[in-house]
Amino acid sequence: MTCLVLSLGGSILFPTLEAHTLRDWAPVLCGLARSVDLFVVVGGGGEARRYIQAARDTRADEAFCDEIGILVTRLNATLLIGALGTAAYPRVALTPGEAMEYSGRGKIVVMGGVTPAQTTDAVAAVLAERVRAALLVNLTSVDGIYSADPKKDPAARKFSRMTPQELLEVVGSGSLAAGSNTVVDMVAAKVVERSRIPLLVLDGRDPRLLERVLYSAEDAGTMVIGDQENPLPLESPSPP
Ligand code: UTP
Repeated sequence: MTCLVLSLGGSILFPTLEAHTLRDWAPVLCGLARSVDLFVVVGGGGEARRYIQAARDTRADEAFCDEIGILVTRLNATLLIGALGTAAYPRVALTPGEAMEYSGRGKIVVMGGVTPAQTTDAVAAVLAERVRAALLVNLTSVDGIYSADPKKDPAARKFSRMTPQELLEVVGSGSLAAGSNTVVDMVAAKVVERSRIPLLVLDGRDPRLLERVLYSAEDAGTMVIGDQENPLPLESPSPP
């Protein structure tokens, strides 16, 4: 079966705890799992930023703030497991190795963060490398990768396709403070480059867009790919 890793940004799943989108995402993920081996890495969202801010107020160091962020991503991952019910493996994988152990049972494997000084995008990229995913999808709250921050620079242009080297150049200028909010972090960009796994950066605010892009090859987001073959469209699942 095709193996797919999704990085589901906390800004998508948990903009705030009250405004979570678990009920919108659960059926989409369960549907996908009928045709692919599915791994989902969950981000921290607004709640992680609030906890990190509280830790910073106590003058905790950045690595400690990252540890706090990781705990929140794992709590969010646990909530997603609850929403997925029997479709998910019942424990949050703490490392990519554990995620591999939990796979192969026909269940969706869910992870949060792993180690300080990175984001869940990097976790997802390393996981994609370990499980030899056909595609890594980063679901975020922007519609793709831009040459500059479109909120600050009106001349910023969106890439519909770019090479991993071009991604490294764009990401090179970002910051990596705890809770920082770049579209893809540097570690993730480097892993994408060395693993040669295609990365799709896609707007996650409409969960159904993911299905359309995966199965109907609707042109959306940014595909980061070198000279390897585009894995899309995937074969549609057979009816239940
Ligand atoms: P993320 O930045 O990955 O969550 O983790 P997010 O909210 O999903 O980000 P968006 O929505 O994609 O923008 C939250 C914080 O947890 C710490 C970092 O401080 C990160 O900013 N973290 C997370 C780590 O230190 N290591 C990890 O492996 C994951």
